[in-house]
Amino acid sequence: MDPVFRALADDTRRGLLDELFQRDGQTLTELEQRVPMTRFGVMKHLKVLEQAGLITSRRRGREKLHFLNPVPIRLIYDRWVSKYAEPWVTSLSGLKADLEAAPEPAAGVARASRDGFYPDRPVIRMLLISGSSRDGSTDAAVLRTAAALAPADVETVSDAGIGELPLFNPDDDREGAPVDERVAAMRTAMASADAVIVCTPEYAGALPAALKNLLEWTIGDAGTYAKPIAWINAAGPAAPSGAADAHDSLRKVLGYAGADIVESACLCAPVTREMVGADGLVHDDAARGQIAASVAALADHVRASATKPV
Ligand SMILES: Cc1cc2nc3c(=O)[nH]c(=O)nc-3n(C[C@H](O)[C@H](O)[C@H](O)COP(=O)(O)O)c2cc1C
Repeated sequence: MDPVFRALADDTRRGLLDELFQRDGQTLTELEQRVPMTRFGVMKHLKVLEQAGLITSRRRGREKLHFLNPVPIRLIYDRWVSKYAEPWVTSLSGLKADLEAAPEPAAGVARASRDGFYPDRPVIRMLLISGSSRDGSTDAAVLRTAAALAPADVETVSDAGIGELPLFNPDDDREGAPVDERVAAMRTAMASADAVIVCTPEYAGALPAALKNLLEWTIGDAGTYAKPIAWINAAGPAAPSGAADAHDSLRKVLGYAGADIVESACLCAPVTREMVGADGLVHDDAARGQIAASVAALADHVRASATKPV
């Protein structure tokens, strides 16, 4: 069931299923008109849905028609909803639908309750990824500080399991086949994040291999496609190039993956080991200002996207 949950964890993919629920048998061109992204992006999302068995497709001449397949969702329902619980579930889901039909008070609040089950959930979930797994890492300290300085409506998640991932191998990421559970966990964390902040050192003139490896695993499920992502470059004054090459390669990889690089949130906050206190946080005021500005700019971008008409 993992591929089904992964496929359903994404807003765009749920939107595509809604479209097919409204009218089955739509072509890629028709679906593309209903989603604010490129044809390539829609194709990738449809592929994930197809791999999860949530849609099927049939060729008609040169066109490919897409059909909703509700069977995997029904299997989830059957597994957890017994015949005794069914009447209660029906009443509660009816109540939820009625409450959600009430006028929306504000865009932010509506988005906060978008999954319905956690109405108090902070509006924006940010996944924080450090390219360094070193004890005492300055990059990790920057991300801890980002979490501490985040606006009240931002929830941060710090563990993408970067150090635990197996080395990427396309043979282990085949269509329809389950992936390693550590990869699945990382993909879930990525899919449920509204935005991502990366803070990485440069190793030998490029991205650390562990970070590149994580990003390679996100290609198969389009995990970073259209995902708002920013980086905070914490390279201190001793770094010869200011870690420019690492960040150039990060930009290149994220560009390949189709990520939404949020330029206004990509900032430099030079941090040396002396600037990190015993509490593991950055204490330098200038660096803290830059870190807070990056988180705020990324959150602004997510809020603005959430209120854009689709
Ligand atoms: C093996 C190795 C290679 C490195 N290569 C570079 C490099 O090419 N460019 C650079 O600016 N810094 C380089 N550094 C320095 C790291 O980027 C620097 O120590 C950084 O602060 C590490 O981040 P951290 O504190 O989060 O672990 C290298 C460090 C190591 C251990």
